[in-house]
Amino acid sequence: MARFKICVVGLGYIGLPTATVMANAGHEVVGVDTKPSTVESINQGKAHIVEPDLDGALKSAVESGNLRAQATAEAADFYAICVPTPFHHDEGSIPRPNVDYVFAAAEAVAPFLKDGSTVIIESTSPVGTTRDVAKRLRELTTAKFHIAYCPERVLPGKIMTELVENDRIVGGETPEAAERVAELYATFIKGEVLKTDDRTAEMAKLVENSYRDVNIAFANELSMLCDRVGIDVWELIALANHHPRVKILQPGAGVGGHCIAVDPWFIVAMDPERARLIESARRVNDSKPEFVMDKVCAAADRLRAELGREPRVTCLGLAFKPNVDDFRESPALHIFEGLRARGLQVDAVEPYATDAVAHAGLVGLDEALASSDLLVGLVKHQQFAGLANDKLMDFCGIAR
Ligand SMILES: NC(=O)c1ccc[n+]([C@@H]2O[C@H](COP(=O)([O-])OP(=O)(O)OC[C@H]3O[C@@H](n4cnc5c(N)ncnc54)[C@H](O)[C@@H]3O)[C@@H](O)[C@H]2O)c1
Repeated sequence: MARFKICVVGLGYIGLPTATVMANAGHEVVGVDTKPSTVESINQGKAHIVEPDLDGALKSAVESGNLRAQATAEAADFYAICVPTPFHHDEGSIPRPNVDYVFAAAEAVAPFLKDGSTVIIESTSPVGTTRDVAKRLRELTTAKFHIAYCPERVLPGKIMTELVENDRIVGGETPEAAERVAELYATFIKGEVLKTDDRTAEMAKLVENSYRDVNIAFANELSMLCDRVGIDVWELIALANHHPRVKILQPGAGVGGHCIAVDPWFIVAMDPERARLIESARRVNDSKPEFVMDKVCAAADRLRAELGREPRVTCLGLAFKPNVDDFRESPALHIFEGLRARGLQVDAVEPYATDAVAHAGLVGLDEALASSDLLVGLVKHQQFAGLANDKLMDFCGIAR
């Protein structure tokens, strides 16, 4: 197997596992991150993020000498850019992708590019980003480099497995660029490596998450329609799914995280007139927390009148999805904070709490069951499975 030297720029949830897997496959990997505490922690063999199986793999990678971290790039065969791509969100407008970090990372590697170097963009990016970055790099260097776009589709919580086992799309600016990156990925990926052009690869990533968003929006829309006409949405979906060609997903408190709730906007921003279904799905999913808050407030009003005092409300779950400690763009956390802002007395149970929810006044599940007047099921964590309770307003199928 060829041994390459690779600079991985951005050592977060994607970059650090990628650098670790590449190093453990025998490559020489230089991890680059602008955050000094991240660099320091990695050089001590300690991950600064929580991800199953990462700690041991990182320790081996650092101890073998194949992985080291630093603040700046250096000469390498490959540069893998894994920096964030958030969005700009001005009130009332369509959110627009922010590719500033990608350009900053590319500009930082430009001085080290030589003939034959290959730049790989892994950050989720709007269509055309790879070509724009290539153009910018050619203003900064005369080196004849290659560039490709290779999206990541790992599931947080299973990153170390999926990074190796998932099929992978490799989109080259040229067929030669795709070929070079495919050669590198074949050294550590067991899944199929699928070669295409850079623009198709950029669109494929956005489409995968839009597909998920649209299908979840269908379930969430059904849940709101069923509420209006007094039909149990869970039973309805279970019945409909007996049709051999119907597979409706489960509704929830909304859609969160940094991928499904974000990436569809990159398509909508590209062509708002044509991306009507994708935009509509995004808005349906974004409207669900407001719907939940209205329902909880109405129930709290009834309880207040009945009890003659302020009811005690407890939210079950704050994370953006079940069984993770990730609270980014979490609809459950948004609902919890929104209910407090509306003046309700609200606590929360969150078995996966981190500092991000330290402000939430967390209580244990037993205490919540004993002392709450109203339980609001927001996240189907395994700890809540099958919880049947007449105080429960179940927005995510906890009791199923
Ligand atoms: N996390 C996921 O599950 C996932 C899945 C698929 C795709 N993605 C995409 O991958 C990209 C990275 O996501 P992430 O979750 O790893 O982000 P992250 O925030 O966890 O990590 C990004 C890292 O980049 C560093 N950084 C920022 N600017 C830098 C620069 N100019 N030079 C060097 N380092 C820099 C930050 O300090 C941080 O450590 C995003 O585009 C995201 O949409 C993420």
